[in-house]
Amino acid sequence: MEDKKHGILSDQSQDETEEQLELTLRPQTLDEYIGQDQLKGKLTVYIKAAKEREEALDHVLLYGPPGLGKTTLAMVIAHEMQVNIKTTSGPAIEKPGDLVALLNELKPGDVLFIDEIHRLPKVVEEMLYSAMEDYYIDIVVGEGPTAHPVHFPLPPFTLIGATTRAGMLSAPLRDRFGIVEHMDYYNNDELKQIIFRSARIFKTKIEDEGAHELALRSRGTPRIANRLLKRVRDFAQVAHKQSIDSKTVKQALNLLQVDSHGLDEVDRKMLLTMINFYHGGPVGLKTIAANIGEETNTIEEMYEPYLIQIGFIARTPRGRVVTPAAYEHLGIEYPTDKGK
Ligand code: ADE
Repeated sequence: MEDKKHGILSDQSQDETEEQLELTLRPQTLDEYIGQDQLKGKLTVYIKAAKEREEALDHVLLYGPPGLGKTTLAMVIAHEMQVNIKTTSGPAIEKPGDLVALLNELKPGDVLFIDEIHRLPKVVEEMLYSAMEDYYIDIVVGEGPTAHPVHFPLPPFTLIGATTRAGMLSAPLRDRFGIVEHMDYYNNDELKQIIFRSARIFKTKIEDEGAHELALRSRGTPRIANRLLKRVRDFAQVAHKQSIDSKTVKQALNLLQVDSHGLDEVDRKMLLTMINFYHGGPVGLKTIAANIGEETNTIEEMYEPYLIQIGFIARTPRGRVVTPAAYEHLGIEYPTDKGK
């Protein structure tokens, strides 16, 4: 419903527009996709070669921290291969029948995308082995005395798996991916390009300095950059700013407690706990998790990789330690008895 007089959209249609915007934020082609240049270079070759041979692209495993565009890249790959994509996730495929239903719908060359592939149930994972290697599955039809195996051939297809933890994949599954690629955090320049692109789609003006400040605080992650851009856009709009400048970005993000390095409350809590209760480490991950009331997995997948990347935490054989750079960032003096 629309408020005719003011042209203000109701909540529901507002949600719909947001959803459409979200979709348009995703690049469709490798050319539009910003960053991950090495990976894009390799994929360009693999896709061209597969298309020339009129074959399905080899199976692809993408691993790396959340929010770096693994799902987006899977969609781009399908688009470039000019095939359909079915997307699902490890926990959503509960039983073999769920996987059969998905595989049954694939046409030759199609992409099946499984996010969080490390969370597939074991029985489902085992069915994938023959599906990936030789394009067939053996299923048991019927029950009791009438139960009998059925050989079910599949069209050639591409499985794209995404995971935050390649180490959690079993070796037999990992070995069946012909293309295994790590996704890296984005540098500031790439994040700025993503921010400018998104701002254009949002029909929002942002100054170079504003985009720079926002990039600095997005922890190398496009999903975070886009989320923060939306929030900053709200602040700019309410303040009647024609264009988002660095002052507005700083004000808005300080309010959101996202600091100059993109650290949020959880990051700071984690570092401060290590410093105040464990003398800056070494301290075990489980101990840190228990202290700050977060899941070990969440810390390992979402928080720690970035803190390691920017050199605020180091991994040692005896546990995690806070580095002098992190002390400096937090404005705490590095203990003299620790040595550097
Ligand atoms: N690379 C990763 N995420 C992207 C996005 N949302 N837009 C453009 N390039 C990207």
